[in-house]
Amino acid sequence: MELRHYLQFKDFTFDEYDYLFARTRWIKDKFKRYEPYQPLVDRTLALVFEKHSTRTRVSFEAGMNQLGGSVITLMTRDTQMGRGEPLEDVARVVSRMVDIVMIRTFEQSIIERFAAHSRVPVINGLTNEYHPCQIMGDIFTYIEQRGAIRGKTVAWIGDSNNVCNTWLQAAAIFGFNVHVSTPPGYEIEPERAGIYDTSHFESFTDPLEAARGADLVTTDVWTSMGMEAENAERKQDFEDWQVDAEMMRLAKTDALFMHCLPAHRGEEVAAAVIDGPQSVVWDEAENRLHVQKALMEYLLLGRTIV
Ligand code: CP
Ligand code: NVA
Repeated sequence: MELRHYLQFKDFTFDEYDYLFARTRWIKDKFKRYEPYQPLVDRTLALVFEKHSTRTRVSFEAGMNQLGGSVITLMTRDTQMGRGEPLEDVARVVSRMVDIVMIRTFEQSIIERFAAHSRVPVINGLTNEYHPCQIMGDIFTYIEQRGAIRGKTVAWIGDSNNVCNTWLQAAAIFGFNVHVSTPPGYEIEPERAGIYDTSHFESFTDPLEAARGADLVTTDVWTSMGMEAENAERKQDFEDWQVDAEMMRLAKTDALFMHCLPAHRGEEVAAAVIDGPQSVVWDEAENRLHVQKALMEYLLLGRTIV
């Protein structure tokens, strides 16, 4: 089988996502009926974390175990990587011992170098630039709740970070629009976002205007992992970019609210919104499990007919 990696959202076509979502629905349905599905017996997943995680770790560990395989979780500071072993050597060694690797790290160039020296598929579990597994789960959640996302409007309020960049890549593939509002100085950098077709997003200086008429309103923390030194400054700069009830009232009446989590109530989102009736954040988090099981099955077994 051809070796494939999943390093950013645009690594897959619409047709592949369509297939993966069909598999996700099937896998999720079996899971909900307590029916075992174990196509990855004897396969091992290595998880490599250079940053903190709750959802990504639990969803990959539980997912691989449920598929019949096993998992090794590495916190890089505890490994020889933490003492300066070259990344390329780690990739060569680890990929001789396991069948698939997920990495959460800093620059995208790190995961690209790892993948270039890996014999097995590598999955991006978040980098400074992208978070593709998150948006796969988010779009699956949108479709599950509301049907096709083509032609819809997603309002992104806040930082132009890894999650935002990934929404922008997804917009071109799925044919929806993103209305982005960031504070001055935090605007999208299309090259860093990995988008060359900018026709799927529009920038708004006023976050309320970005939310107006949206089908989905979404945001993320003001300070991403690795940027903690900027926290105090960002709290001031992002003050007016909180998703609150007033902003949700401008979106469509059936608009959903999403947040990749962890969230800071009272900062990027008001408690009334994240804990309110339009919020689907818990389904969104759960669906990480189901989409990533479909993803691992696809990278290891290709298309399966069940
Ligand atoms: N959303 C997400 O990736 O969460 P964790 O940082 O907890 O993995
Ligand atoms: N943008 C956030 C996402 C956390 C899941 C970060 O990178 O810290």
